[in-house]
Amino acid sequence: MKKKNIIVVGLQWGDEGKGKIVDLLAKDADIIARYQGGNNAGHTVVNGDLSLVFRLVPSGILNDKKICILGNGVVIDPAVLFEELDALKNIGIGIKDRFFISYKSHIIMPYHKRLDIARERLRGAGMIGTTGRGIGPTYEDKVARLGIRAIDLLDRNLLYAKIVLSLKEKNYLFKNVLGENIFNPDDLIEEYLVYGEKMKEFLIDSSAFINEKINDGFNIMLEGAQGTFLDVDHGTYPYVTSSNTVSGSALSGVGLGPTNIDEVIGITKAYTTRVGEGSFPTELKGGKGDLIRDKGEEFGSVTGRPRRCGWFDVNLIKEAKRLNGATGMAVTKLDVLSGLKKINICTGYMLKGSFIDHLPYSHADYSETVPVYQEMSGWEGNISDIKSLKDLPVNSQKYIFKIEELTGLPINIVSIGKERNQTIILKSILREG
Ligand code: GDP
Ligand code: IMO
Ligand code: MG
Repeated sequence: MKKKNIIVVGLQWGDEGKGKIVDLLAKDADIIARYQGGNNAGHTVVNGDLSLVFRLVPSGILNDKKICILGNGVVIDPAVLFEELDALKNIGIGIKDRFFISYKSHIIMPYHKRLDIARERLRGAGMIGTTGRGIGPTYEDKVARLGIRAIDLLDRNLLYAKIVLSLKEKNYLFKNVLGENIFNPDDLIEEYLVYGEKMKEFLIDSSAFINEKINDGFNIMLEGAQGTFLDVDHGTYPYVTSSNTVSGSALSGVGLGPTNIDEVIGITKAYTTRVGEGSFPTELKGGKGDLIRDKGEEFGSVTGRPRRCGWFDVNLIKEAKRLNGATGMAVTKLDVLSGLKKINICTGYMLKGSFIDHLPYSHADYSETVPVYQEMSGWEGNISDIKSLKDLPVNSQKYIFKIEELTGLPINIVSIGKERNQTIILKSILREG
């Protein structure tokens, strides 16, 4: 039996249910690794009475003995990481010898968070709606070659010099542009050296480690954070996050070559949501949007903000399929649509009098796109405990098959509830006989 190496990636604007699907698939993966983003992510895993929202730790950690890694592409707020590790310890989940961090991953510092929040205030009406966790400024420092890497936390002199250097411009900005208090390196150094001491036992070269394990016959699942349209290159720029979220970045985010990957599985909701600012052509304001939000409990798992809700958008998924080289998909939250008399699928947009079957190129055009809908009949009842596709209400089956037909992406999994077992698997992913 061949074990596969796969990438799991969000096909929309995040919160597609990646945590649930990664937890579910983790039983067939030896290693689960995050490759980008930081604690802007909130990946929910529900298993019986246990409901956990992972910000940094890969969602496979609840599966006994699986190795979980934070790759070099991840940005880490140590306080959040240790809070998460303590929470796992408190519920008896052991991480010894199976949780690791790339020594090259970058550290989110208090000045990154302050900068993130102050910049949003400066933008005023043009704000991005970030999570305020310092993600953007940390990636900026990485690219500006001012970043602090996990390994730097082990060297007092180096760490001090790096903090001093990074604060040279930032303190000027805080004081003279943003009207914020400045930082004194002496107030930061001790705390971050303590984090370094605590982090030391987990640090590895993620590339060397993963490649060696793959050579030994282990398989890997790479867990994306955010979603395709939050990608800094391919998303709805500038209303995006500050990392590449698409599958291509999974490889550089852990130090693995592309020839190792067998499948790319995209996760999409049976409808669409977005949290934060930026365009959203199929958004439903009020009415059915509120209904979906209430039924789907669509509130941000990190910030608690209400998620904007709208109809399924074929353009998004077709483009995400291409951008990620997706080979299959999991459709989540089908149960949330139960009870709606009519359900729309967006098959394209009208823009300035012409039909387009792709996303507008200019962000300015988004506000002028008018979705074109195909109307589908709804279905009734609670479907969350149904065990096979053929037992789902006929109209929900039609809906699923329509999505598959219009996007051209084969469906592997249909998720009909939060729980691990509220899932219908159509085609296996990680193993082939
Ligand atoms: P992620 O960031 O992609 O991991 O997604 P989040 O965890 O932020 O948001 C997904 C939410 O939907 C979580 O509260 C999940 O527990 C929940 N969820 C996932 N799949 C399903 C499903 O099929 N049905 C329902 N009702 N909830 C689901
Ligand atoms: P998961 O992994 C949904 C959004 C923010 C904001 C934009 C930029 O749980 O799917 P940032 O703090 O990253 O600079 O914010 O990106 N955003 C997410 N939206 N799910 C996420 O993660 C998100 N991570 C960031 O709301 O619009
Ligand atoms: Mg989330």
